[in-house]
Amino acid sequence: MRKIIPLLFLIGLAGTATAQFDELLPVPQHVKPGKGRFRLGPNFRVVLRESTPSRIRPGANRWLTRLDGRTGLNLPDTAATQGFPGDGLNIWVRTRAALALHDDESYVLKITPRRIMLEAETDLGALHGLETLLQLLSADASGYYFPAGKIEDAPRFPWRGLLIDVCRHWQPAAVIKRNLDGMAAMKLNVLHWHLSEDQGFRIESRRYPKLHEKGSNGHYFTQHEVRDIIAYADARGIRVVPEFDLPGHATAWFVGHPELASAPGPYTIETGFGVFDPAMDPTREEVYTFLDTFLTEMCDLFPDAYFHIGGDENNGKHWNANPKIQAFMQENDLADNHALQQYFNQRLLKILEKNGKRMMGWDEILQPGIPRNIVIQSWRGREALVQAATQGYDVLLSNGYYIDLGKPAAEHYRNDPLPAGSQLDAEARKHVLGGEATMWGELISPETIDSRIWPRTCAIAERLWSAASVKDVSDLYRRLEGASLWLEMDGLRHRSNREIMMRRAAGSTAIQPLATLLDVVEPLKIYQRHHQGIPYSTALPLTRIPDMAIPDAPVARRFRTAMEDYLREPDEPGRIVLTLWLRSWRDNHAAYLELCESAPLLREGIPLSLRLKSLAVVGLELLEMHAAGTPVAEKETVIARTIANAREPSAESELAVVEAFEMLYRTVYAP
Ligand code: ACM
Repeated sequence: MRKIIPLLFLIGLAGTATAQFDELLPVPQHVKPGKGRFRLGPNFRVVLRESTPSRIRPGANRWLTRLDGRTGLNLPDTAATQGFPGDGLNIWVRTRAALALHDDESYVLKITPRRIMLEAETDLGALHGLETLLQLLSADASGYYFPAGKIEDAPRFPWRGLLIDVCRHWQPAAVIKRNLDGMAAMKLNVLHWHLSEDQGFRIESRRYPKLHEKGSNGHYFTQHEVRDIIAYADARGIRVVPEFDLPGHATAWFVGHPELASAPGPYTIETGFGVFDPAMDPTREEVYTFLDTFLTEMCDLFPDAYFHIGGDENNGKHWNANPKIQAFMQENDLADNHALQQYFNQRLLKILEKNGKRMMGWDEILQPGIPRNIVIQSWRGREALVQAATQGYDVLLSNGYYIDLGKPAAEHYRNDPLPAGSQLDAEARKHVLGGEATMWGELISPETIDSRIWPRTCAIAERLWSAASVKDVSDLYRRLEGASLWLEMDGLRHRSNREIMMRRAAGSTAIQPLATLLDVVEPLKIYQRHHQGIPYSTALPLTRIPDMAIPDAPVARRFRTAMEDYLREPDEPGRIVLTLWLRSWRDNHAAYLELCESAPLLREGIPLSLRLKSLAVVGLELLEMHAAGTPVAEKETVIARTIANAREPSAESELAVVEAFEMLYRTVYAP
C-alpha cells in the first residue's frame, strides 16, 4: 500500500475526508479508541444544559452549520436546551472563561454508539472539543459517523499565537476573520495584530485622526470593525493582542504627526522594506502626552490584558543625529541608545499600567532594570528566551516560527519552546508561556496570505498544544493533508486562491502545464526574494510565479519521499511511480511553452520548466542505470551538471525536487 499511495496522489485520487483518531491535529493528550460508531442521521441533535455559558450556544450552532454543510443531512441548525442528556451530542460546561492567559482549556470527549458527551470546565475547552469532534467526522458505505472512543485533552502551553502584519500589505477584515476560523480549528488562541509600521498605520484613532487619515492610504480598520473582529475572535476563544511598534518602525505615524519624530519632517508613508531610520523622540514630554492619550484610547478598545509595544530594530540613527536628544542623554545619564530606549519603555510601561495592561515587546526591550511583569517575545534567537525566563520574565518563542521565511513545516515543528535537554530549571520553565507564528506582510496579499499561513502553521499549533513527545515529522505531514482539507472546508483559501491566480496568469482555464510546474516550485526562502534584483515595494503586484508557488510544496515532498522509499527498497512499483512522475515533467515543458505564447506573465517560469524537464530526462536515465546496475561513466559529468544547474533560482523561485535527484545520482554513481 505504501507504494501505491504516491501513485494515487499522482493520478489525483487521494485526499478523502474519512477521518479517525490518528488523523487528529493537534494530537490530543490522551486518546482511547472504543468499539463501534456513532451514526449521524437527520435526527442528530446537539443538546445543551439550560445554564450553558454564553460562548457555547453560538459555538454549537456554528458547529452544526459546518457539520450540516459537510454531511448534507439537513440537521437542525440550532442546539436544543431541553432533554439533556439526549441521544445526540451533549455539551456540559461549568463556567464561562474570562478569555485570559491560563484559562482552563481542557475538555473530555466521550463517543459511544448511542451518544456523545463533551464535558469541559470552561466554554473554551468545549469549543476545542467541538473542533476535535468535527475532525473525527468519518464516512463509510452506510453514511457519516463518529468513531467511538474517549479523548482527554488540554494544551501544553497557554499562549498559542499567530501574528498577522496588516501594515506592509493591507489585509481587510474578511481575511482576518477567515484566519481566525483557521486558528480556532487548530486550537490557536491569540491573534497578535501588528497594527502600525513604517508602511502603514492601520487603525482608526478618534483622538488623533491624522494618524490613520494620513498614515494609511485609506486602508485601516475602523473602531467598529475592530470591535467586530474582537467579538468574532472572542466567540472562538481567541484573545486579540494589539501591537503598536515603537519607537522605531513608526514612519507612518509621522506623516500626520511629524512633531513626534526625532528628525524634522515632512514624512511620507514608506513603500520599501527593511529597517528605516525614523523613530519617536523619547526626550520630549509632548510625545508622552500624545502617547498617553493614544494608548489609553487603544487600551479601552482592546479588552485583553496584554498590550504589545514592539521595540524591535530601532537603529538609533535619528537619535544620534539630533543634538537635543544627545544633550538629554547627557543630562539624564543615559549612556547609550539602549538606555534611552529603556527610558522610553519605562514611560510607556507607566501609561499601560495605569490602564491595567501588561506590557509586552520584542526581545530588544529586555534591558537591565525593566520590571519583571513585562512579557518578552523572543525573535532574534533562542538565547533571549533562555535569558528572559532565567531572569524571571514571562516569555514567548517566535524565533523559529517565522512562517514568512517560507521554510518547511518540519523545521517549525522541531522548534520546541522547551526542548528536551533545555537548561531551564522548573521555575524558569513556568515562565515560558508558549509561542507565536509570525506572518510578516512584505510579500503577501489578501490573495496569498492564506497559503503562507496554512497548512504550515498547523505544525506550530501542534507543537504548542500537544505533548513534547509528539514529534514524528512524517506523521505530521501525513495528517497535514487532512488538516489542509478541513481548513479549506472552513473557508480558508490557501488552495482555491492558487487556482484562481493560475487561471488569471494563464488567461485561461487550461492551467495544467502551469500547475504541474508549480507543484514542484517553491518561492525563495529566507528573504532571498528581496535580493533578486526586483526592488520590492508595497505597490508591486504579488501575482507572479513566486506568488502562485507555495512554501513546502506537498507534491515535491511526496516525490522526495517516494525517491527515498525507492532507494531504500528498490522495486518495480516504486520505479513505476517515479517513472510516471518523471515522464510527466519531461513532457510538461512543451505544453508550458505553448501556454506561455498567450500568457506573457508566465514566461519568467520557462527556465524553471526547462530545468525540470532536464532533471526528468537525466532522472529517467539514472533510474534505468540503477535498475540495470550499470552506471554509464561517460554520462556522469553531464548528469551532475544538469542536477547542479537545477539548483539555480529563477523567477525568485526554486525547484523543490533537486535533492531527490541528488540522492538518486549518488546511489547510482557512488553507491
Ligand atoms: C521583528 O521581526 N523585527 C520582530
